[in-house]
Amino acid sequence: MNANERRCFESFAASTPSCENAGCSLLAVPQLPVFSLAFICVHLRTEFTNLIRMARSKSSKSWLKEHFDDEYVLRAQQEGYRSRAIYKLMEIEKKDRLLRPGMTVIDLGAAPGGWSEYAVRKLGDKGRMIALDILPMQPIPDVEIIEGDFREDAVLDKLMELIRPDRADLVFSDMAPNMSGVGAVDIPRSYLLAELALDLAQQVLKPGGALLVKLFQGDGFDDYHKDLKSHFNKVVMRKPKASRARSREIYALATGFEL
Ligand SMILES: C[S@@+](CC[C@H](N)C(=O)[O-])C[C@H]1O[C@@H](n2cnc3c(N)ncnc32)[C@H](O)[C@@H]1O
Repeated sequence: MNANERRCFESFAASTPSCENAGCSLLAVPQLPVFSLAFICVHLRTEFTNLIRMARSKSSKSWLKEHFDDEYVLRAQQEGYRSRAIYKLMEIEKKDRLLRPGMTVIDLGAAPGGWSEYAVRKLGDKGRMIALDILPMQPIPDVEIIEGDFREDAVLDKLMELIRPDRADLVFSDMAPNMSGVGAVDIPRSYLLAELALDLAQQVLKPGGALLVKLFQGDGFDDYHKDLKSHFNKVVMRKPKASRARSREIYALATGFEL
């Protein structure tokens, strides 16, 4: 066995306890010629890597399947909307009647643009719609777009420059961090974004204005809810049908901003 083959054999044997669990005893056969051992070693290592790849691609495949079978994804495609997220706002709007002609609305985490696309139609000629996202967005007629990370001061400054001296009637935040799948990481990240949205709302809303913000149920929810209640007259939670039932996502709608 040459040095490469030995290294491969040793590292495989050390890193693959599941080989034994799988009933694989080939590696323990001492009489096998050295080249066979090297071959088996490489072969099993490849099989092992493939198993991991299969497990990973199985979960991404099932995500893709779920996504493309999703009734709201299909509807969005048929009806020509940019994202399935639009149906969440539609349902909330149907119930709560947030949008009126002449309003100034800020949409944080706007890409690909479903909410802005829907809302701008309700604002009429005198309304104003500002959309912000870290990702680039295709233009939407009558929507002012800012591309940048809302956690950065320079991006907030850009937004403030655009809006001042006006104030806004409504702030949306559908911002969500890239999910790692680890709640202890994802939930604090999402609350940082929600807190920044509330901070902005306090700086730009007119008295009586509203904030619609995506939250995740978990650590931080109760404190955030309390915070909202201290700045707004009324806070209600909305879980639209288009929000996946297994997701911890929920929307807080805070109305009646008090300066
Ligand atoms: C669920 S999507 C929004 C969908 C959108 N409401 C629509 O109707 O199409 C969440 C968005 O939040 C954005 N986002 C996440 N972190 C951000 C950040 N730090 N600054 C700006 N946007 C952010 C993501 O890029 C993503 O486009």
